[in-house]
Amino acid sequence: MKAIDVVQLILKERFGAKPLHDEATAFAPANIALCKYWGKRDEALNLPVTSSLSISLNNQGATTNIRLQKHRDEVTLNGELQSLDTVFSQRLLRFLDLFREGCDLHFKVDAQSDMPVGAGLASSACGFAALVLALNQLFGWGLCERELSILARLGSGSASRSLWDGFVKWHAGNRSDGMDSFAEHLPYEWPSLCVGLCVLFKQQKSISSREAMKRTVQTSPFYAAWKPTADQDLLCLEQAIQSQDFELLGSTAESNALAMHALILSSRPPILYSQCETVTAMHTVWHLRAQGLPVYFTQDAGANLKLLFLKDASNAIRQAFPEVEMIEPFG
Ligand code: DP6
Repeated sequence: MKAIDVVQLILKERFGAKPLHDEATAFAPANIALCKYWGKRDEALNLPVTSSLSISLNNQGATTNIRLQKHRDEVTLNGELQSLDTVFSQRLLRFLDLFREGCDLHFKVDAQSDMPVGAGLASSACGFAALVLALNQLFGWGLCERELSILARLGSGSASRSLWDGFVKWHAGNRSDGMDSFAEHLPYEWPSLCVGLCVLFKQQKSISSREAMKRTVQTSPFYAAWKPTADQDLLCLEQAIQSQDFELLGSTAESNALAMHALILSSRPPILYSQCETVTAMHTVWHLRAQGLPVYFTQDAGANLKLLFLKDASNAIRQAFPEVEMIEPFG
């Protein structure tokens, strides 16, 4: 099945209809996975091997404005005009093509991202989620959250989780059309929970998460161990969230991220996202913990770390990581 077939299934008679408005704007929060999505059972539809669970970063995310244009597409990122043949523009335009099949439609897309793009800081997740929300307004589709999540997944898997605040679970599903692979909001609040963004390295990562994920699945001799690990971690995280057990949440998220990076490293040829600064920061976290401060980290497809801690540890965290950007997901 192709992505466009899924779009047709969702839009039904609205497929190919003209937009209702000239322009629309939407915001979507960035999300950080506590139990990671790493590996696809279908690459065209971004269908995952495992379910995953994330926390959204409140007002940190992406705002996308989409406007109808007369003659040609135009893309800007944080106010800067982008050439249409960059990887960024190409991914975005191929996604827009799914919604203008057979119509002579051109768009101007203005994407504003609070997160550095391509640095493993969840920029594509909030970017595609904001775009889908903006398209839903522009065309006046009136889609429900589940349908929006499926469409966002077609842009980037982790985007399926960026439509809500707080905790979000993406169900892997097992249907080949992916209609059971969508995310949903988990109805739990945890006001004292904090996420610290440690931007240690702003450069674009050397290999995209998409490519690295594919190589891991194809070549890591340990990939078979990932599904049972992630399934177990997901159960622990759900339990931790329900009972507000911070040690369980932090230790599970950290070991899930380390397991994912161990797999990535065991790919052939190997991939290592960590830089020296990443390893130093990990040791600092472990040192703080050994001294009795409950702090954990998670790491995505990039060199940066995200710290997990409770609000009363903020001062100690700030001392150890002066540059950290603190986010209160429920603040
Ligand atoms: C490490 O969602 O960027 O952040 O579906 O190919 O676009 P594609 O991949 P993407 O991968 C995210 C990987 C991750 C883990 C996660 O967010 O769950």
